[in-house]
Amino acid sequence: MAQAKYTTHLGMVDILPDEVRKWQFLENLIREEAATFNFEEIRTPIMEQTELIVRGLGQLTDIVSKEIFSFSRGEDNYVLRPELTAPVVRAFVEHHLDQRGGSQKLFYIGPMFRAERPQKGRQRQFHQFGLEVLGSSDAVADVEVIAFMIHIYNKIGIKNTTLKLNSIGDPDSREKYKEALKAHLKPNFEKLSEISKKRYEKNPLRILDSKEEEDQPFIKNAPVITDYLNEDSLAHYAKVKEYLTDLNIQFEEDPYLVRGMDYYTQTAFELISPDLGAQDALAGGGRYDLLVEEIGGQPTPAVGFAAGMERLLIACEELGIELGSEKKVDVYIVTLGDAARKWGLSQLPKLREKGVSATMDYMGRSMKAQMKDANRENAQYTIIVGENELNEGRFTFRNMKESEESSLSFEEILDKLL
Ligand code: HAM
Repeated sequence: MAQAKYTTHLGMVDILPDEVRKWQFLENLIREEAATFNFEEIRTPIMEQTELIVRGLGQLTDIVSKEIFSFSRGEDNYVLRPELTAPVVRAFVEHHLDQRGGSQKLFYIGPMFRAERPQKGRQRQFHQFGLEVLGSSDAVADVEVIAFMIHIYNKIGIKNTTLKLNSIGDPDSREKYKEALKAHLKPNFEKLSEISKKRYEKNPLRILDSKEEEDQPFIKNAPVITDYLNEDSLAHYAKVKEYLTDLNIQFEEDPYLVRGMDYYTQTAFELISPDLGAQDALAGGGRYDLLVEEIGGQPTPAVGFAAGMERLLIACEELGIELGSEKKVDVYIVTLGDAARKWGLSQLPKLREKGVSATMDYMGRSMKAQMKDANRENAQYTIIVGENELNEGRFTFRNMKESEESSLSFEEILDKLL
């Protein structure tokens, strides 16, 4: 086969029809389950103002400093959204969603963009589904968000997962911890990686998330944040753990779990799968009680998570879980001659309006080739029409699976199909 002259951009992937069926299955499942949890869908644009993302996620995060797709038009600077928490908060503030009353329970499905080095489970355009709850500081909200996340994987049959849990406290607790962490790292400052040196002053917590080899010995025996949580933070964390236990949701505490964005406060979590290889995070999230205010809204506590859909599909493949059904059509009308072809074309709407999926040959092929095509399309039935059938008003109706045929009028065929 000749090589295509034009191809997708690095790390961006076409989703072809056989794959799309799996995506549709997954999207339907997420929508149905979100409805059972009483979450409403929100859709925001693919582009956001650069400043929103920089402010929301933090200047020194990997995403903002290295992975953003940005461009400008006139005076305006935009980015392709790398995630949806900051955009959802922007929409919440812009449209005064708090005035709808209660806590806003929102979900989303859609593409995100990060200019990372592509590898298995890591793309530059990838898809997430996620939830955001705005307006509740109660641990019930944290636990409902986590419960939904686990519920989706359980429904699909991905059960071999680990929920990692941490609390990174409120800003007060975190300040104290930052000082302790800096004091611990200081004697070895010169041995830290360049990026960690940069983060040392402004955001030392991110050093805990470093993948650089030279940082590992100093991360390993660093002080743990949970020793620095104040009373309120400890109480919130204790409630989250208590409610998770009530729901029989198992978790593993990981005091070094810090997430990739600066907006997090209190609860932080990740769902890890051993079936994924290097990119083992299926999903992640946490609380972000200060983000709404940071973006210009009234103080509003919030919590959410997002999951990588490609990674979910990879896990399904590894586990042999089949999503969605195979390609098929109810009826294929096989025609011989012009008059039969014209008849076939005019019967298609009659089948479709009864909810029967129907197709016919578009290429003027021989009858044998049409039967082959009907098999390829996985047609359940064929209606075979030639001149004789037209004259008699009776058609060959063939059950393709059972290889059974009968001669019926079109009305009798409709009766059989319904
Ligand atoms: P995140 O951990 O950056 O969190 O992304 C969530 C999930 O998206 C990851 O666990 C992973 O499965 C998937 N993901 C991230 N980057 C890529 C990539 N380059 N290719 C494929 N999959 C990827 C967030 O985005 C937060 N907004 C989650 C959140 C919601 N926190 C609070 N609310």
